[in-house]
Amino acid sequence: MTSKAIRLGIISAVQEEQAGLIESMQDTQTLTRGMRHYISGRLWDTDCICVLSRMGKVAAAATAAMLIERFDVSHIIFTGVAGSADPDICVGDLVIATHLVQHDMDASPLFPRFEIPLTGLSRFSTDAALSARLAVAGRDFLSQDFQAAIDSVDREKFRHVQPRLHHGLIASGDEFVSSRARLLQLKQGLPDLLAVEMEGAAVAQVCHEFGIPFAIIRTISDDADESSAVDFMRFIEKVAARYAFHVVRRFCHAP
Ligand code: ADE
Repeated sequence: MTSKAIRLGIISAVQEEQAGLIESMQDTQTLTRGMRHYISGRLWDTDCICVLSRMGKVAAAATAAMLIERFDVSHIIFTGVAGSADPDICVGDLVIATHLVQHDMDASPLFPRFEIPLTGLSRFSTDAALSARLAVAGRDFLSQDFQAAIDSVDREKFRHVQPRLHHGLIASGDEFVSSRARLLQLKQGLPDLLAVEMEGAAVAQVCHEFGIPFAIIRTISDDADESSAVDFMRFIEKVAARYAFHVVRRFCHAP
């Protein structure tokens, strides 16, 4: 897979998560449909369409379907934030999904819990090559850009020492997880869960149905507990936005 061959859809849930990317785009054109602005152009070496989905599974699914049908994207990546669902994963770490599950899908007893009815599937696999390329970008960001990109005040505040990159299961649902008890409930059903968010598995289902390779990268913004909403928007603005910018820049083969 070369940059030249791909037409990449880049989705984030909220504006701050794409800050900087739109400004870096060249030859841009904007199309507004369904209350979303789809901005196409070149990002460094890559033909891209950037769009904000807003939060939640329906919003993410509608956005992904539009990217595929209207913009003919060949690949989709989603960059955003997530709550940690594993004690080994800290605020500031990156998680790249190997699989995604919709944790609020439960059509039992008609179908097993988590299974998407009439598909036989409960977990959607991400594209290995796209995820590997995203992992290189993420790892290089953490080892080469992180210190300079993130203000020392923010690094201190968010207790960053040396952030790490993880791979594994991400779960999505129409719920901001903000209690330890709720997180433990989710972990009981999904013991290998690494992170929770609100969009990835919806994008995953749409991409699966259309046969579009996709990858999901998340910066851990909180511990999905009672403190998860504290400083949430500040984290996105000061930290996650920089992560997303540099990871996508590296992904798109910037000089
Ligand atoms: N995105 C970031 N943190 C989250 C949380 N705690 N729950 C759901 N989505 C999130």
